[in-house]
Amino acid sequence: MYDLSGYKIKPEPVILGFESSCDETAAAVIRGRKLLSDCIISSATEQAKYGGVVPEIASRAHTEAVDEVVNLALEKAGVTVRDLDAVAVTYGAGLLGALLVGLSFAKGLAYSLNIPLIAVNHIRGHLAAAYLDDPSLKPPFVTLLASGGHTAILHTISERKFTVLAKTLDDAAGEAFDKCARVLGLPYPGGPNIQRAAEGGKANIPFPSALVRHSESPVFSYSGLKTAVINYCHTKTQRGESFSVPDIAASFQRAAIDPLVENTVKSACGLGVPAVTAGGGVAANAYLRRTLGEKCRSAGLRLVLPEIKHCTDNAAMIAAEGLNKYLSGDFAPLSVNAAAQIPLEG
Ligand code: KG4
Ligand code: ZN
Repeated sequence: MYDLSGYKIKPEPVILGFESSCDETAAAVIRGRKLLSDCIISSATEQAKYGGVVPEIASRAHTEAVDEVVNLALEKAGVTVRDLDAVAVTYGAGLLGALLVGLSFAKGLAYSLNIPLIAVNHIRGHLAAAYLDDPSLKPPFVTLLASGGHTAILHTISERKFTVLAKTLDDAAGEAFDKCARVLGLPYPGGPNIQRAAEGGKANIPFPSALVRHSESPVFSYSGLKTAVINYCHTKTQRGESFSVPDIAASFQRAAIDPLVENTVKSACGLGVPAVTAGGGVAANAYLRRTLGEKCRSAGLRLVLPEIKHCTDNAAMIAAEGLNKYLSGDFAPLSVNAAAQIPLEG
């Protein structure tokens, strides 16, 4: 089979995936749905000194790491650039300067090897991560997608098509984790540190649920929950009372995650799909993974939960989504530009 640009479409292509939208410089190689290598060089430790991601530091770190991480991924996969059938790269959403490092590198590689360039929407990469951990996974399924930029429940109809069943009105769940961590004096990145603090705490503070409407379709909001945590800490401090960071972390975690888990399972049951998947950094959360597992089990739903390293940013998921686009000949022109923002459905 040939696509319109004259590239031969192979059923099991070797694809290099590349990701540089935030603070991880990542490269991975797949052959068909089989993951051959998966490498990351992170600037997170450097960023932690500043309490968050500094865009200029991220761009510089990508520039320094790009060659090394690609060579490592090729070497670990046991292939050379000559074996590549396509290059898939995140073109958005993310930090513009950071994205441009990866996109420019991928363009150069695709042009010099005369192979297709595949421009991947980062959030669709998170959605595709489930295919890595279960290559036999086939739509339809329902996905709980929760990252630093998005929070939504999606109905995946085919490898290329999904509808949004529910989403947040304001902040993303990951953003709320990061902001609450800061208020509690926990270091960046907030999510894993809230999780750790919550392990020793009791979920006994009645913070408002992140579910704000559940008429025909659920609607989430994280700004109210975040403000409630901030107010709780400020009030206690003003009164000269102490507060328990573990109890706040556990209570916040429950208010943030329970509605996502409950409504994901409810949506899957309502639609009659056989499986549920999850993706995005918040899907790395131990409480989310445990409760989603329990709820899916009792509802008789198959749960495909990507490994933790495939929930947070990585290049394997970009290669996986790259394969979905490759198989339908959806290639990008070399003029494709990076985009700081792309709608969820983009
Ligand atoms: O998907 P991701 O790595 O990057 C984006 O595309 O945004 O998600 C990052 C978000 C951060 O807000 C981070 O705090 C959160 O995911 N996160 C977690 C955990 N690990 C990462 N949130 C809760 N629990 C975790 N274990
Ligand atoms: Zn991400």
